Amino acid sequence: MRMPDIYVGKNLGKELICAEIGVLHGDHALAMLKGLPIKKLYLIDPYITYPIYCGEPYPQGTLDEDYIKVKSLEQEYAGVVEVLRMPSLEAAELLKEIPFDYVYIDGNHEHPHVDNDVKVWWDLVKKGGVLSGHDILLNDVYTAVNDFVQMLKLSTDIFIFSVDSENWLIHK
Ligand SMILES: C[S@@+](CC[C@H](N)C(=O)[O-])C[C@H]1O[C@@H](n2cnc3c(N)ncnc32)[C@H](O)[C@@H]1O
Repeated sequence: MRMPDIYVGKNLGKELICAEIGVLHGDHALAMLKGLPIKKLYLIDPYITYPIYCGEPYPQGTLDEDYIKVKSLEQEYAGVVEVLRMPSLEAAELLKEIPFDYVYIDGNHEHPHVDNDVKVWWDLVKKGGVLSGHDILLNDVYTAVNDFVQMLKLSTDIFIFSVDSENWLIHK
C-alpha cells in the first residue's frame, strides 16, 4: 500500500467509501482492496489514449485490455467495486451526492486537469475524509496541489507530502 492508504487505514474508520481517479492496470486499486476496509470503491478512468507530457502515450489497445482486466474486479469484489469508464469530472458529477471517505487522484497529470480534480473532488470528500494523490514530484501536480492548499489556507499538519513515495494527502 502507498503512504495515503496506510494513513487512511490507521486514521479512518471501517466501511470506507472510496474512489480512485486514474486506474490503468488496477495495481493500486487492488492494493487498496486488499489492504483497506472498503465498502465501496469507484474506479474511474476513461481508458482513452491521450498525449502524456511526461512520457509515451498509453496505446489504445493496451488501455482497452486494461479496462477489461479492471472491469473483472466487479465480479471478484461484487457489490464493492464499480468501474466508471469516463473522465474524472463526468464521474464527479454522477457521484456528487456521495460522501467519500477517501479519494485518490492519479489521472491526467497536466496542470489544468490536476487543478480541476483537486477542486472538484475536495467537495465530494466528507469532513474527516482524505483527499490524496500520486506523483507530487511532477511540477504540474505539485503546483496545482500546492496552489490549492495555499488557497484553502490549510495548516501543514493536515497537508502531508511524502517525497519518497511521491504521494500527497490532505485530511479534511
Ligand atoms: C498513472 S495512470 C494510473 C495508475 C494507477 N493509479 C496505479 O497507480 O495503479 C493514469 C491513468 O489516468 C487515466 N486518465 C487520464 N485522464 C483521465 C481523466 N480525465 N479522468 C480519469 N482518469 C484519467 C489514464 O487513462 C491512465 O489510466
